[in-house]
Amino acid sequence: MNKDQIEGLISELTLQEKLDMVHGNELFATKGVERLGIPPFRTSDGPMGVRRDFQTDSWANIGLSYDYDSYLPSNTALAATWNRDLAYETGKILGKETRGRGKDMILAPSVNMMRTPLCGRNFEYMGEDPCLAAEMVVPLVKGIEENDVSSCVKHFALNNQETRRLDVDVEVSERALREIYLPAFEAAVKKGKAKGVMGAYNKLRGSHCCHNDYLLNQILREEWGFEGIVISDWGGVHDTEEALMNGLDMEMSVMNNFNEYFLADPLMKMIEEGKIDREIAIAKIDEKVRHILNVMNALHMLDGERYAGTYNDYQDKAALRQTARESVVLLKNDNHVLPLDAKKVKKLLLVGDNANRQQASGGGSAEIKALYEITPLMGFHMVLGGNTEIVYKPGYYNNDVGNIWANMGDSESGQADSLNQDKESTAVKEAQEEKKRARQALQEEMNEKYRKEAIEAAKDADAVIFVGGLTHDFDTEGQDRADMKLPYGQDALIASLLEVRPDTIVVLQVGSPVDMSAWSHRASTICCSWYAGMEGGYALAEVIFGKVNPSGRLPETFPITEQDCPAVVLGEFPGGASVKYGEDIFIGYRYYDTYDVKTAFPFGYGLSYTECVMSGLAVNVLEDGEQSKRVEVTFNVSNIGDRSGAEVAQIYVADKLPKVKKAAKELKAFEKVFLEAGETKQVRLELDESAFTYYDEESRCFKIDAGYYMILLAKSAEEVVEVVDVKLA
Ligand code: BGC
Repeated sequence: MNKDQIEGLISELTLQEKLDMVHGNELFATKGVERLGIPPFRTSDGPMGVRRDFQTDSWANIGLSYDYDSYLPSNTALAATWNRDLAYETGKILGKETRGRGKDMILAPSVNMMRTPLCGRNFEYMGEDPCLAAEMVVPLVKGIEENDVSSCVKHFALNNQETRRLDVDVEVSERALREIYLPAFEAAVKKGKAKGVMGAYNKLRGSHCCHNDYLLNQILREEWGFEGIVISDWGGVHDTEEALMNGLDMEMSVMNNFNEYFLADPLMKMIEEGKIDREIAIAKIDEKVRHILNVMNALHMLDGERYAGTYNDYQDKAALRQTARESVVLLKNDNHVLPLDAKKVKKLLLVGDNANRQQASGGGSAEIKALYEITPLMGFHMVLGGNTEIVYKPGYYNNDVGNIWANMGDSESGQADSLNQDKESTAVKEAQEEKKRARQALQEEMNEKYRKEAIEAAKDADAVIFVGGLTHDFDTEGQDRADMKLPYGQDALIASLLEVRPDTIVVLQVGSPVDMSAWSHRASTICCSWYAGMEGGYALAEVIFGKVNPSGRLPETFPITEQDCPAVVLGEFPGGASVKYGEDIFIGYRYYDTYDVKTAFPFGYGLSYTECVMSGLAVNVLEDGEQSKRVEVTFNVSNIGDRSGAEVAQIYVADKLPKVKKAAKELKAFEKVFLEAGETKQVRLELDESAFTYYDEESRCFKIDAGYYMILLAKSAEEVVEVVDVKLA
């Protein structure tokens, strides 16, 4: 359809029909206009695959078997690969399955920055650095949208905590907003050409993000030229007039009173009662309908042949397995315990509830009804085959204490109740506390029993692997963690294991950093695996037994404790009715690095079974006329070890004499380089002028100061290999 035909369609729609298109008429879809061939617009969560189907007007499960599908690695796992090709492959699978499941928009990806390690939804996000997140989200969005479906980049913006997520008012400087919190969204929109953006629940500067004039009209539409659909988070709309005027196109909610949504009958009533200028209102409604029709048109929903999609293709499992492999981050291998040699391990002890736990169905709206999920226990069995005896001991007792979604109300998903989390009566809260105490007593009793069994079994095993960490009782929507401690008494268990077996391999399956200080000094071998999707357990076993060389790098700093975190030291977390981002631009390594704060493991860090060296850094200002700001960076990477592997070369930029306060250095480019044993490759990267800019609050735009900058070639935020100065005119 061309533009005129779309305008023709709009002119034929009645006001009621237009309103039906701009709000949910089912929990995940709008109403179509059959007489004009406009179908309903169908959405589905989410970032880890296409979520199960619900009834149209209740959160009850449909209860049929057709919606088991692929469980993808979480965005944190994906970001840990630092591999853009895998982001693209993951996007292609997500888009194909979205279409295959008959949906038009997938409510993904999620790219809020990891401001604090305690945010419950960190696992859905891409870490703490805007450059890494922006670089990874673009191919992901492109991959999704190749399939005649729309992505929906969320949650725009500043949804960096779950505590009071529905109404917390974020106070952030314009500079931090522009430099830290918006770039991944901007890249997804401008470079990835995302057709959907979801407004966040929280407020920015007093106004809810789902109808925030500044974010939606001024930045997203006017500055970035976004022409797609702005959809609300479910229940994120609070005012009819603001929703009409401030850039929102589609209102969705968790309740089934569809006609009472702000953009439904209440809007019609306002127009009929003359409480709003009819002409202005119609023009605004037409604009929303135009955005929706344009997207429908681009997805071939109005005419032409539409891609049918498919899901659960067996070929796709290879890409999902590869992402899971490359996401594993080897944090410590002091005594070269890893890789294990399968021939020498006749008896393997696996300890830890997470080894035997399927995680896909948790976390909130990112839950997946997985076609299958290979747990670590299953993965080790599959990889080792019949020649190794695998003994499994839970080691600690997981009693699901923290699962707020499971503990909530009577709805099947807990999602409808999630909007009421702050309003529970004292009586309900007390009853829950009582239950919690009883569970905790049981936990202690069981922990002791399980610990003894594990310690006993550890004594004669050829190798001991502990697989613990977090679960979606903690990495979850709707709730932040209270601290970074490992739950279920794992610290005590790990310490006891290390006493009898100092060679215990500690694997942490987490979506966020955890505090390892109770035992990390005694552990020689630590590995981080994430919610890595349906092939995660298999990939982990391949890494541990050396079939795959680990190449993941942390997409976020692991601070020693949450007390070290800049949001706590310089800012506020979780705040109250409002939260002040007093740390400003100093989030993640920008803080630890600049303020010289010791970390457990730095941003960008990860080990390999081989050794790569980087050298020969050369920098060349490209001739772009007089005001050249493009810089070419070249260097060599050599694999000097005896097995193939990868290095993630990281280029940071530092201003030598900053005129304003700046971070000690900032990541501006990276490349994952794969090398055979003995191989050397030359890498060439280009930095454009955005690598040298900062946001100037006074002139309200990005600015470059002339002068000297350092270009740092690094293996992590704490391991700089070479530095070269460059002068910008
Ligand atoms: C979440 C969104 C999700 C939506 C629909 C909300 O609670 O914040 O990320 O897409 O529900 O399930």
